[in-house]
Amino acid sequence: MRTSKIISVKLFLDTGDIAEVKLAAEMGIIDGVTTNPTLIAKSGKGFKETVLAICEAVPGGAISAEVVATDYDTMLKEALEISSWHEQIVVKVPMIEPGVRLVRTLSDKGIDTNVTLVFSVSQALLAAKAGATYISNFVGRVDDLGAEGMDAVRDTVDMIDTYGFDSQVLVASVRHPLHVLESIRAGAHVATMPWGTMKMLIKHPMTDSGLARFLDDWNSAGLTI
Ligand code: E4P
Repeated sequence: MRTSKIISVKLFLDTGDIAEVKLAAEMGIIDGVTTNPTLIAKSGKGFKETVLAICEAVPGGAISAEVVATDYDTMLKEALEISSWHEQIVVKVPMIEPGVRLVRTLSDKGIDTNVTLVFSVSQALLAAKAGATYISNFVGRVDDLGAEGMDAVRDTVDMIDTYGFDSQVLVASVRHPLHVLESIRAGAHVATMPWGTMKMLIKHPMTDSGLARFLDDWNSAGLTI
């Protein structure tokens, strides 16, 4: 039985594209945004500028922005700088030794964290013990290797529930709607995905053919509103 607090699966958009964020936010379907260094580089805009525009587009949403250093002191400096930009910012920290220490430091300061590049339950356990707010468990990159990315997600959700950790399991590297369905079945707290994947969740061939039929019948009858 689930013991951790969860109301509904949250959807985050995984992007550095402000136009996509605005579109999804206007639809009222996103609870936050995740970025990573690759996505920020792809946006062609500055890091701070992009992250602040995203915060503004999703009022109250959790916006993940990642540190890029790999030694503790510089990671801490970057984390404090990034988190000072906006109260909605969640500092994204890679799952490396200084990263685990950084998560504990930030957690003690009341700064939200998202531990990224997590692939195993043992990594997730350490992130949870260090006080991570979110644990980003990557699935698509594991599927790419011919393994079952969702296995670690299911086991991590069980682990969080069994031991009553406060961390939320965030399914990352989501590539298609089946990953979203499996995230829901696993009882994950959050799934983050690119806009292309989120748009696929809207589509169903029966919706399209059903609508075409409704409109044909309406128009054939010469009706108006
Ligand atoms: C999550 O926070 C990551 O930015 C993202 O999900 C990585 O996805 P990818 O494996 O498709 O690059």
